[in-house]
Amino acid sequence: MANTILKKERLIPGQTSKLVIHAPHIAAKAKPGNFVILRVNEKGERIPLTIADTDKEHGTITIVYLVLGKSTALLEELNEGDAILDLCGPLGKATHIRTGGTIICVGGGTGIAAMHHIAKGHHEAGNHVVAIIGARSKDLLLFEKELKSFCPEVLISTDDGSYGHKGLVTELLKDRLEKDTTVTEVVAVGPVPMMAAVARTTEPFGVYTTVSLNSIMVDGVGMCGACRVTVGGETRFACVDGPEFDGHKVDFAELRQRLAAFSPMEKQSYEHHCRCKCNDKK
Ligand SMILES: Cc1cc2nc3c(=O)[nH]c(=O)nc-3n(C[C@H](O)[C@H](O)[C@H](O)COP(=O)(O)OP(=O)(O)OC[C@H]3O[C@@H](n4cnc5c(N)ncnc54)[C@H](O)[C@@H]3O)c2cc1C
Ligand code: FES
Repeated sequence: MANTILKKERLIPGQTSKLVIHAPHIAAKAKPGNFVILRVNEKGERIPLTIADTDKEHGTITIVYLVLGKSTALLEELNEGDAILDLCGPLGKATHIRTGGTIICVGGGTGIAAMHHIAKGHHEAGNHVVAIIGARSKDLLLFEKELKSFCPEVLISTDDGSYGHKGLVTELLKDRLEKDTTVTEVVAVGPVPMMAAVARTTEPFGVYTTVSLNSIMVDGVGMCGACRVTVGGETRFACVDGPEFDGHKVDFAELRQRLAAFSPMEKQSYEHHCRCKCNDKK
């Protein structure tokens, strides 16, 4: 049945899970950079999640999510065999794949899974792909094995030094850019402060930098305006004009502010869900 969860893997128990979902129509069309909007049940919010991988032959898509608030907590309650009520996609513009040169794909936290699909697209187009991935500690690092299966180089950093370089992904990036003049593009997917830091790091080197923005989305088709971001002084809608944009032109301060706009309500909704789960079910 469409939208059925065929496989669930708890990558970081209680925090991050991976779902392989039967969605043949989406799998057939999805490209790197696309996302889906899903609703867990009739009372559920619509939440956007990046397509981390596809298997066209078996008609499946893979999503990886961080349990952050009420809707991702509801998603986490589903198990193999359960179906997601609505799954809409593929949405957003696909990644612009350049050919020739070295592409550095930087991923932080859950963003590593989303970056994986983009890195795969660049690799399949014949580019030399270097992955730089980072997490707070070794046990929170995602998709290392998956990236190593096709990336000739995977550089790792952890904040606490429990694995790879002790420090930030931007330190590895700066070091690489100082030594390597073949880099034609840097792609960054992760928390907003990380993407902003990547853009600041690449700017002096003049290397084109793509960031994948996670602005608040509602309809996902350009009608509601919820996802508006400022890029190069112009208003753009992340759902239809993005989610990928030129990182040197994004107003990250405004994005951070808009993402935090509903924090008190989101906290209240999550606390209510934790206390009284019965009301959330259809
Ligand atoms: C294009 C896109 C792709 C994304 N891909 C992934 C992914 O692959 N994995 C992943 O873990 N997360 C991803 N996100 C973020 C994810 O959508 C939010 O974490 C999720 O909606 C949180 O919902 P919640 O109810 O659990 O948390 P809430 O408590 O409602 O919100 C927590 C935080 O999540 C963000 N958020 C809340 N609602 C939305 C919304 N409707 N749209 C966007 N952000 C929202 C806000 O920053 C908010 O402060 C993506 C966002 C976008 C826009
Ligand atoms: S989510 Fe409504 S316009 Fe983009």
